[in-house]
Amino acid sequence: MARGLISWAWLRKPYCIQARFSYLRMKYLFFSWLAVFISSWVVYVQYSSYTELCRGHECKKTICDKYRRGVIDGSACSSLCDKDTLYLGKCLSSKPNNQVYTGSWGDLEGVIKCQMGDILQYDLGADMEPRKEAMLFDKPTKGTSVEKFKEMVFSYLKAKVGEQANLQDLANLVLSVADSNKDGHISLPEAKSAWALLQLNEVLLMVILQDKEHTPKLLGFCGNLYVAEKVEYTSLYGLHLPWLLELWIPSGVRRSMDQWFTPSWPRKAKIFIGLLELVEDVFHGPFGNFLMCDVSATNFGYNEKHDLKAVDLRRVVPEAAFREAMRDRHCDVDADCVYGADCSTSCDLTKRRCSTDVIQPNLAKACRMLKDYILRGAPLDVREELEKQLYSCMALKGSADQMEMEHSLILNNLKTLLWKKISNTKDS
Ligand SMILES: Nc1ncnc2c1ncn2[C@@H]1O[C@H](COP(=O)(O)OP(=O)(O)OP(=O)(O)O)[C@@H](O)[C@H]1O
Ligand SMILES: [Mg+2]
Repeated sequence: MARGLISWAWLRKPYCIQARFSYLRMKYLFFSWLAVFISSWVVYVQYSSYTELCRGHECKKTICDKYRRGVIDGSACSSLCDKDTLYLGKCLSSKPNNQVYTGSWGDLEGVIKCQMGDILQYDLGADMEPRKEAMLFDKPTKGTSVEKFKEMVFSYLKAKVGEQANLQDLANLVLSVADSNKDGHISLPEAKSAWALLQLNEVLLMVILQDKEHTPKLLGFCGNLYVAEKVEYTSLYGLHLPWLLELWIPSGVRRSMDQWFTPSWPRKAKIFIGLLELVEDVFHGPFGNFLMCDVSATNFGYNEKHDLKAVDLRRVVPEAAFREAMRDRHCDVDADCVYGADCSTSCDLTKRRCSTDVIQPNLAKACRMLKDYILRGAPLDVREELEKQLYSCMALKGSADQMEMEHSLILNNLKTLLWKKISNTKDS
């Protein structure tokens, strides 16, 4: 009996080993299949989102087609379309209709921006109305004289920035940019490009603030495609986390995590001073007041010298245009009177219309954005004073015009305090 059992066990063992082996093989096969499936799915999703998001070459094709047909012209056209010396590099777009690429143009490093298809207007009046591509280069029409075009530019700017004493200077500035080959004459293709560019808030701001330090320079254009100076570091602070993780992290923890990888305090102070200077540039600038309607860390960056640079100017809007847009707006609650992330007015419940006065000036928003950033690591001897000043800055209410004295006092105090502290350090 025992012998029978042993021989049975002998017979059974190879069978067991075999079964175990094929089970392992099945498991191995299953997991390899799963890995291949998941990775090809990831590759597919990445690829399809890349092709949907990154359509720079389509943009180039459309623009160059218009350039070759003589519809548009500009300083970047021949490099982009004939000589191939303006390259589209890495795709940075986060929305399909707003193409953003790093670019190299001879020795220049820049960022190429191109609006595609049905364009989302950031214009206040049009308020995110899609604009058809076919209408893009329809103005000025054939036969429009240079004088007529100058008038068009003048009235457009008047509607945008309001009645300004030196509006003609601004119009001349725009016209000098439009004359891309600097031959003293604006051709119809140049005028069409300039008109399309003028509709873009960011370009208008770049032209207005072209002599200032804190806005990227406009390096060139072709139609509504333009090349801007590249900002080296494109966010002031903040960690990018997968959205699943984002959901689980409490907001307090998230805020302190955002401040983990930031430059040394004197460098942060220099960046903050840069932001204060930008606030000064756009408030009572040469062509009126502008409102910063999206003051968040991702819309500002800095270069290697830690000079602050605005990255995204699409939501910096003329106060005159903002007031005009708010005047007609119907509202039931204050939340109906908001433009961008943070330009708001209050709702007049008797008339059910938005009021035209902004609730907070740019300076208060700048202080709010950088409070934690600048207080973290601040030297003990300035910390208390700095905190006090930041709180009075954040408490500023109304438009900068209404409390001009207090506004400039707080701005100057903050700048002086920070400069005094960093002027002797090598980081400044
Ligand atoms: N002048 C610039 N230099 C360097 N990077 C830039 C410049 N302008 C834009 N970028 C980068 O290009 C990317 C896309 O910018 P874009 O403003 O189109 O999208 P976004 O900021 O992600 O979204 P949103 O539409 O809300 O502004 C961003 O990562 C931005 O930092
Ligand atoms: Mg942006």
